[in-house]
Amino acid sequence: MIKKEWMTVVSQQNIAKNIYELTLQGELVQEMNEPGRFVHLKVSGQTMPLLRRPISIANIDQTNSRFTMIYRAEGEGTKLLAEKKAGDQVDVLGPLGHGFPVNEAQTGETAILVGGGIGVPPLYELSQRLNEKGVKTIHVLGFQSADVAFYEAKFAELGETYVATVDGSLGTKGFVTDAIREFNLQGDILYSCGPVVMLRALEELQLTKKGFISLEERMGCGIGACFACVCHTQNDPTGTEYRKVCSDGPVFPMGEVAL
Ligand code: FES
Repeated sequence: MIKKEWMTVVSQQNIAKNIYELTLQGELVQEMNEPGRFVHLKVSGQTMPLLRRPISIANIDQTNSRFTMIYRAEGEGTKLLAEKKAGDQVDVLGPLGHGFPVNEAQTGETAILVGGGIGVPPLYELSQRLNEKGVKTIHVLGFQSADVAFYEAKFAELGETYVATVDGSLGTKGFVTDAIREFNLQGDILYSCGPVVMLRALEELQLTKKGFISLEERMGCGIGACFACVCHTQNDPTGTEYRKVCSDGPVFPMGEVAL
């Protein structure tokens, strides 16, 4: 069930250049049942409240009613959010959307998890769930450069982890697809989140028969009411058939939406 709650900041940390890790506590965490869903956060400015911002869920701790998210502070709303300290309250709506189907991977199979930039965080909760189920995970994380890279060590605790940076300052020089080719990575199922160009390149690679991708689309309402996030399907790329990223997604089976 979707809830709205004033959640309490447990901790906030700057983990890479302009990248923040924020842990919040509240009852809403009990509704978080699937990796890859997101929350919509509202931060108030000096003169007026700002629009809600969609932020993906990176880690769920239901025992302590806490969840963690990672975001880039770039606009006014997220910069204000970065100033929040332990004990402050944040207005949260969620959990929203449909996440990654963990059940599509079978025990004993290998899942390749590919993330780009701020698309990396939701894969962390997903990887933990897959490992709990006995699915082997291989992680490929893409960033612009070493200074904005994060969570490499955390993913490495869960399985083989490869990093690619556009400028070559960490790991393979180039894109996630370059790292996949360099190390000849193979698996049974693909899960990915990141920019559309990356998702398109991954679909073209046809690494696995089965896969799920999460779109980072600019959103308005976040609950299926405003149509700000619609995209066409691959079946009907210029026609009237569409999907709403916020409520039908953000996760879709590979090949369903036009990228
Ligand atoms: Fe409003 Fe998706 S953001 S319909």
